[in-house]
Amino acid sequence: MDHMERIVIEGGRRLNGETAVHGAKNSALPILAGSLLAGGETVLYNCPRLSDVDAAIEILQVLGCKVTREGTTVTINSDTMTQNEIPEELMHEMRSSIVFLGAMVSRLSKVRLSFPGGCELGPRPIDLHISSLQKLGVRVDEQHGILDCSVEKGLHGAKIMLSFPSVGATENILLAAVMADGVTEIRNAAQEPEIVDLAGYLTARGAKIKDAGKSTVYVEGVKTLHSAAYTVMPDRIVAATYLSAAAITGGKVWVTDLNPADLESVLPVFEQAGCRMKIMRDCIFMEGPGMIHPVRNIRTLPYPGFPTDAQAPVMALLTLSSGTSVFVETIFENRYKHVVELCRMGADIKTEGQVAVVRGVKKLYGANVQATDLRGGAALVVAGLAAEGTSRIGQLYHIDRGYESIEQAFAALGADIRREGT
Ligand code: EPZ
Repeated sequence: MDHMERIVIEGGRRLNGETAVHGAKNSALPILAGSLLAGGETVLYNCPRLSDVDAAIEILQVLGCKVTREGTTVTINSDTMTQNEIPEELMHEMRSSIVFLGAMVSRLSKVRLSFPGGCELGPRPIDLHISSLQKLGVRVDEQHGILDCSVEKGLHGAKIMLSFPSVGATENILLAAVMADGVTEIRNAAQEPEIVDLAGYLTARGAKIKDAGKSTVYVEGVKTLHSAAYTVMPDRIVAATYLSAAAITGGKVWVTDLNPADLESVLPVFEQAGCRMKIMRDCIFMEGPGMIHPVRNIRTLPYPGFPTDAQAPVMALLTLSSGTSVFVETIFENRYKHVVELCRMGADIKTEGQVAVVRGVKKLYGANVQATDLRGGAALVVAGLAAEGTSRIGQLYHIDRGYESIEQAFAALGADIRREGT
């Protein structure tokens, strides 16, 4: 990871052409964790080439699994898994490594992980993960940031009511419950498409899961799982980012290899902004508007509401609208860090607590800015594509966690964009 790399954009070119969406990071990560359940082999297709995926593969290898990778196909054999501890550096490298916990306690009777601390989105507690796993029979001792977990008599099914539909907690419960003794019922479960994808993978291996994607999910524990091949779903946030970029430049772009149903709450926002879209089975044609209209109220919510991950790229689009748009961020406390950077480029945005008021400006101007987090970083690229003059975006490691060579995708659509070294 080279912290001195930058993306340099000469803004103002319309995007034109066709671009494909890669596999979903937030689906690949829990599936990779699931590959260590029960031993056997998983062949994962459409697995995105991202630094977060590299970190997950490294964790699997440290635990003793054999992993090979060819392009977007990753093959994991977990027969040889021996280790019960993820080193602290790896836990810190990727906060979502907590999703390994549910799979590890299914396989081993003792597991030790260090607590992933806060992150750039504010404090991200794991209380729901812990209390749920306790209900399934895991003993958790937490001291000085270390989680010592033990399973004395094997995992058992339980009724779990989540006070908030946490994506990660729902994934951890699924991973721990598929081989537990008896039935698990998850109420107020997260309904994100990535949950359905994880359940699809586990089902392909022989798990019995009912109603994944609904608010109450049932899991009937099975004794063993078998090997399977599975294809990761398209990344709906990458799709939303490409659509925002096409729209802000007034371009005409086919975004392919996506699932429009996963974008149900995002597409109406583009429509209100004046975009014209043709929605096909697995692709969307986006025609950016001559004049971007404001969107009165965008509230981020658990699925099927508007995704918090799409908030920043869509905000970049609306900085150039002809009026005032309002965002309310209800999922994460600290998810407006990109606002200061967008304002450096000439945007007019005021935030107070959960609310951001975006007054459209006539132009954005190229500036030197820093990616503050993954989606915030992508928003700066979207803004840079439409800004007058040169934008330089630093701290690219944030963006590389979730976008496969974002600059190449936009360059292929006609943007003047490149990555520069130190
Ligand atoms: C997943 O994070 C995604 N990450 C996030 O994407 C995404 O923003 C988020 O879901 C919401 O959709 C992965 O899938 C790897 P949550 P996760 O548990 O599972 C609170 C990206 O950019 N909470 O649904 O961590 C929490 O603090 C990333 O790709 C608790 O209070 O999300 C937050 O406010 C960023 N206690 C809210 O719930 C808990 O035990 C939502 O978190 C767990 C969560």
